[in-house]
Amino acid sequence: MASQPQPAVFLPFHRALIEEEEKRAVLEVLESGWLTTGPRAREFESSFAAYVGAKHAVAVNSCTAALHLALAALEIGEGDEVIVPTMTFAATGEVVLYCNARPVLVDCRPGSFHMDPRAVREAITPRTRAIIPVHYSGLPSDMSAIMEIARDHGLRVIEDAAHSLPAWYDGKMVGSMGDATCFSFYATKTLTTGEGGMVTTQDALLAERMRILSLHGISRHAWNRYSASGTWKYEITDAGYKYNLTDLQAALGLAQLAKCTSMRNSRARVAEQYALRLSGLAAFQLPTSDPLSTHAWHLYVIEINPGSLRIGRDRVIEELKLRGIGTSVHFMPLHLHPLYQKKLAYRAGQFPHAEQRFEGCLSLPIYPHMTEEEIETVVEALRDIARSFAA
Ligand SMILES: Cc1ncc(COP(=O)(O)O)c(C=O)c1O
Repeated sequence: MASQPQPAVFLPFHRALIEEEEKRAVLEVLESGWLTTGPRAREFESSFAAYVGAKHAVAVNSCTAALHLALAALEIGEGDEVIVPTMTFAATGEVVLYCNARPVLVDCRPGSFHMDPRAVREAITPRTRAIIPVHYSGLPSDMSAIMEIARDHGLRVIEDAAHSLPAWYDGKMVGSMGDATCFSFYATKTLTTGEGGMVTTQDALLAERMRILSLHGISRHAWNRYSASGTWKYEITDAGYKYNLTDLQAALGLAQLAKCTSMRNSRARVAEQYALRLSGLAAFQLPTSDPLSTHAWHLYVIEINPGSLRIGRDRVIEELKLRGIGTSVHFMPLHLHPLYQKKLAYRAGQFPHAEQRFEGCLSLPIYPHMTEEEIETVVEALRDIARSFAA
């Protein structure tokens, strides 16, 4: 079978900005002799907390771990319900199942990728304990409505901020608002440690509880037991987890944190350029903004306007690939996955707004060091596809 011609250069969906500072920071840890959780992880926690305006931060090895720890520390368990948007990644729902609680899925607000506060209110039952808003793509959810619902019903709010570092809502930084906020430092995220995460909170007791659970449920300073100032003596108080972040990762994180705002501003410039150059194309709907929010621009998600092209989203992705451009889809809603259909009896058609978003959406490359030429390559490819496949 003849293979398709390959483009000379492939523009990936994401490329992390790793410079000399990151390399030096990791090398210093390698040479220090202390590789796992230690002084760099502690420094990363305090610098991160200060950056987002939180009193406490616990560094962990993923956002999934952060979400699980927050739920576990809040003692969410069997018989409890947690409200989760269906438009999210696997992690947001699965952590609820880890706790033997039930993820109660809700639809998007019409025309938006964010959870609908009205649907949240309607999903509340006497068993509801918490809400997990997802700040999809880096744009904060409608936090004033969600916090009001939580106050009215005595619910906890655990923010899934995997996409939203740094982001602001009504003058407050994401990381300083809910009971706990969970960040991801996965390879494609706005700050990366390869794999990693952070959970922030204003509540000292909750922070202490999450810290203990993050390292085997061992009482205080478990990480320190091999150092000169530490002791081998410890007590296991809970069935905890092995969720700690290493110093190697934390060193990378500290170097990335120092340029987090400037990386965000560079991504915002890419987003501006996309908006400017794509706005004339009737085939594509561009991301919306919210006057109350400042976008982290983790993702630049466009949608195909229904009826405007002869081809669907998957073919558009293939056509972009043929033109040397990597993209992704965020997300196939949870209720369309077999786990949620088989275990929790969700079915297709149940959340029409999320399904409509999913049908037509794709995420374009966006990263701080994207060049003018690369932006133009993406724009030109979309123009070509819009021309070639116009309905
Ligand atoms: C919305 C959302 N939540 C949680 C996660 C999980 O993050 P991690 O890979 O750090 O566990 C992701 C990962 O992509 C995500 O997109």
